Amino acid sequence: MSFRHKHILGTENLSREDIELILETAESFKEINQRDIKKVPTLRGKTIINAFFEASTRTRLSFEIAGKRLSADTVNISGSTSSVVKGETLEDTAKNIEAMAPDIIVIRHGHSGAPHYLAERVDCSIVNAGDGTHEHPSQALLDLMTIKEFKGKFDGLKVAIIGDIAHSRVARSNLYAMTKLGMEVRFAGPGTMIPVGFEKHGAIVCDNIEEAISGADVVMMLRIQLERQANTLLPTLREYARFYGLNPEKLKLAKEDAIVMHPGPMNRGVEISTAVADGPQNVILDQVANGVAVRMALLYLVSGAEMVEE
Ligand code: CP
Repeated sequence: MSFRHKHILGTENLSREDIELILETAESFKEINQRDIKKVPTLRGKTIINAFFEASTRTRLSFEIAGKRLSADTVNISGSTSSVVKGETLEDTAKNIEAMAPDIIVIRHGHSGAPHYLAERVDCSIVNAGDGTHEHPSQALLDLMTIKEFKGKFDGLKVAIIGDIAHSRVARSNLYAMTKLGMEVRFAGPGTMIPVGFEKHGAIVCDNIEEAISGADVVMMLRIQLERQANTLLPTLREYARFYGLNPEKLKLAKEDAIVMHPGPMNRGVEISTAVADGPQNVILDQVANGVAVRMALLYLVSGAEMVEE
């Protein structure tokens, strides 16, 4: 099956077949990351710009590593070191980047819709590395790859996603993708952090964390995104940790073989206790490892390159 998408803007417009193709491609690239020489010539001659206008550790590093392992020329710019700080618009910045003939721009931006705005205005491929509170498609795809590795399937799995759903682009991208793959998605969090309308996309909104976690195969904890809240939406972090933090006692409500996920960065002692974050059910660093393979797959698929081994 061929990949029809020039851009990766979100999981909302990816079909089940698209997602399966991305994950199969990522699985084939994962082996490269375990070799002594972690490099193939697949994207030789291609130029990838990683334009990050918001902070990032995992996504930025793994897109850069992904591009380099595929032999692309990767160049990074950040908001704080670009001419954006001198008042240049996003469109002007993108047009200037495009004048240097990149093949792919990977963009993280604080405004929801920024990657879509660029996709309509530039000729190269745009890959969304997280836009505001909207989508974070590569995160959802690496989450799915990790779930497949540990659970061997998608259909029928029960996933509890707990925390600041309203501001979470990870929750949104996972909801769109997981429901397409036949998974049951349950959300729980403080009432002020659960947006209305997710039920129409197939989410089950639970009254409390215990209800969401009961019998779950996968428990995904989310950070409170204080940087995206105009007003503080919770009384204290201590109270949040008590009612919505995951500790070993609450985790016992999930299936015995449930896995615990977190997209990072974690706030230990708030949404997740150290005992759980470092405990036997956590797959958090497996998620990070799979992030490189998934991003290799995305860069490869949008570039339309041929797979070549040396
Ligand atoms: N999960 C995630 O997006 O992490 P970073 O913000 O470090 O990229």
